[in-house]
Amino acid sequence: MKKPKLQSPTGMHDILPEDWKYFQKIYNVCEDLANFYEFAKIETPILEDAELFSRGIGLATDIVEKQMFSFKTRGGDYLALRPEGTAPVVRAYIEHGMQNLSQPVKLWYFGPYFRAEKPQLGRYRQFWQFGFEVLGEAEPVIDVQIVQIFYNILKELKFKNLTIAVNSIGCSQCRPCFRRLLLSYFRPRESSLCSDCRRRLRENPLRILDCKEEKCQTLVSQAPQMLDHLCEECHKHFKDVLEFFEELSLPYSLNPYLVRGLDYYTKTVFEIFPSLANQEPSQGKENNIEELAKVGALVGGGRYDNLVKLLGGKPTPACGASAGIERIALLLKEKGLKIPAAQKPKVFLAQLGDLAKRKTLKLVEEFREIGIPVSESLGRDSLKTQLNRADKIGVKWTLILGQKEALEGTIIIKNMESGAQEIVKLEKVVGEVKKRLKK
Ligand code: HAM
Repeated sequence: MKKPKLQSPTGMHDILPEDWKYFQKIYNVCEDLANFYEFAKIETPILEDAELFSRGIGLATDIVEKQMFSFKTRGGDYLALRPEGTAPVVRAYIEHGMQNLSQPVKLWYFGPYFRAEKPQLGRYRQFWQFGFEVLGEAEPVIDVQIVQIFYNILKELKFKNLTIAVNSIGCSQCRPCFRRLLLSYFRPRESSLCSDCRRRLRENPLRILDCKEEKCQTLVSQAPQMLDHLCEECHKHFKDVLEFFEELSLPYSLNPYLVRGLDYYTKTVFEIFPSLANQEPSQGKENNIEELAKVGALVGGGRYDNLVKLLGGKPTPACGASAGIERIALLLKEKGLKIPAAQKPKVFLAQLGDLAKRKTLKLVEEFREIGIPVSESLGRDSLKTQLNRADKIGVKWTLILGQKEALEGTIIIKNMESGAQEIVKLEKVVGEVKKRLKK
């Protein structure tokens, strides 16, 4: 019987070298900004106790209800592949006593996450996120600084025309009243809601507000809005947030229907979207703008003042966000952002015969030690093939070590632009090349 062809699991992808270049670029930009804003790097395990997410994100959320990859280990533990990074960071904060450090504690991360979603462009079952979290600070200025950091990262990656959607979803003081208001608005209209929203009405009526179904949106447009029902503290917090946005000239827009899909949020929530209007697809790219518009938010986040306590720590206000790396990389590629090779070789080493090969192997190490990037084709024997490769790479200098030179302890330095050749002593060649590269 013919064996089925082995493929990566549905919705999970190899990150090929061509794509990793974009991931690396994004990583470098994040790292630079993290250093500037004094965030320390943290990586948590890919597997966690499933209860961390059911308690942290909320039992009635899509992520916990439908999208978690969870399983029982042979030892009887119930584990889950992490669907997001905030609950694990909070778990680590509590577990390692970071509450006793000077506050706030600022952490950032970059890694793979897992959700069993229906795969489509920009939505995968294994996807990468980077995130920034500030724990131990209640001030609204922090909410805005988090937005600013993500905005700066995207700007640094040459995104123009970003939109920041922002809302406040209140706190445990004011949200229960608003929830009751929503229920009394939607209950008599239940039959006009989609089947998902009929379920949400029982489990999490706030989620009806960001339903994408047209018939629900019509009802939502007349529904009460959280912003009109914030308690005094949340109202003041949100007012301050908006003033800081103005101060920094961040292009925000109020979206009273933004509620986010995770239960841990309090007060400020936000998402950042790319604006694809006026963007021409770059040549030879298969995705059109309409398709790309479907990738959705690049960044999502907000304040989560109750999560640390909920997961067993002391009450600690916190705020953060994370961004989808595949979505960013997809748009960077579409925009035709060129990423230069990390290090272009400056010298090519060509060799002929066994003795020359052995000496070249050593020479490669000598160049590495003094930091001159070289390229070689040690597996090739034909000089012509090797010189063609040197040409293709575009180096100015090629060193040729033939059988005769290897025996005599010399080597040829060839200028690839003029074709001129010189013979020098093998032990002097590294210094000679260094001199020429300085000119
Ligand atoms: P989230 O909105 O679920 O928030 O995810 C953040 C970002 O991850 C999204 O805006 C999107 O770019 C990307 N993303 C989410 N799901 C997928 C997927 N299936 N495929 C590709 N990309 C995806 C969180 O995860 C929160 N932990 C954010 C946060 C941090 N809140 C406070 N701190």
